[in-house]
Amino acid sequence: MNATESFLRREPGATEAAPLVRLQDVHLRFGANEVLKGIDLEVKRGEAVTIIGPSGSGKSTILRCITGLLRPQQGHIGVGGTAVESLRGEDELIALRKRVGFVFQQYNLFPHLTVLENLVIAPTRVIGRPRADAEREAHALLARVRLADKARAYPGELSGGQQQRVAIARALAMRPELILFDEVTSALDPETVGEVLTVIRELVEDGMTCVLVTHEMRFAAEISDHIYFTEAGRIVEHGPAAQIFGQPTQERTRAFLRRALGAVPRLPPEFDAAFAPVPAAAPAAPAAPAASTGSTASTASTASLPR
Ligand SMILES: Nc1ncnc2c1ncn2[C@@H]1O[C@H](COP(=O)(O)OP(=O)(O)OP(=O)(O)O)[C@@H](O)[C@H]1O
Ligand SMILES: [Mg+2]
Repeated sequence: MNATESFLRREPGATEAAPLVRLQDVHLRFGANEVLKGIDLEVKRGEAVTIIGPSGSGKSTILRCITGLLRPQQGHIGVGGTAVESLRGEDELIALRKRVGFVFQQYNLFPHLTVLENLVIAPTRVIGRPRADAEREAHALLARVRLADKARAYPGELSGGQQQRVAIARALAMRPELILFDEVTSALDPETVGEVLTVIRELVEDGMTCVLVTHEMRFAAEISDHIYFTEAGRIVEHGPAAQIFGQPTQERTRAFLRRALGAVPRLPPEFDAAFAPVPAAAPAAPAAPAASTGSTASTASTASLPR
């Protein structure tokens, strides 16, 4: 345990094998409005977990609870062995936030600083890393997000997609234990969305623990280990991506996915089977006469779609 961790309040029963993030029966109210009504959620080390659900269902609120930006009235939140609800004072909260990267829809880069300075400022000022080390790492991170040639540029000289990749590199510069992504592509032009998703996909493949909120269902299906579907402050259903996208058990999940996937007609190939016509017990040979299989196939196709 390092000096930072030693003064953070330990989560009872925390072990190396325990989930990196654990929410248990989390309730949060804004005045009389209860927006989280008993959230249970787990993220293991190295996992990508995506929270999907309608607007206002509490997705961003869950992420803000994980970083200690919001304090629930009830329940437990563990992050890497720290009991977040027991943290007291700004120092302890700042110590937590050093360990949890957070990337938002609005990139919030410092406009008067170069891209390189945006990456160097927190590691040098907040955790006292030597400037030469921080600069070296910043250049490496810019290469990782494919912006090696933009170190001297100012944020205003970059596209939205480039600025968002700088924001991801800036979060990585703090060497976080996990990164939270809240709809990081929803303010971007469609042509720059892909370059940001590619960077996140590579982080996930490299084993970075990620919690994402996104409306990019195809992307969520492709990269997530686990999906949580929220509605009105509750987890309606959760499970492996293949199960939630392929065989959701709850009517609400099916209705949501049918609407959401309507705007994204193609899923990754491994999910095609789940949404394709259900094959008969003994699939027809390719050469079978169309007339004998056509009606069966179309009925099965409808039956297999989420309703
Ligand atoms: N600071 C706040 N004060 C009062 N109410 C809030 C606050 N932040 C969020 N809420 C309310 O909490 C509920 C959940 O909001 P939240 O932002 O978590 O939803 P969301 O699922 O992220 O929605 P979206 O998909 O639109 O981003 C909403 O009803 C919202 O109005
Ligand atoms: Mg939100």
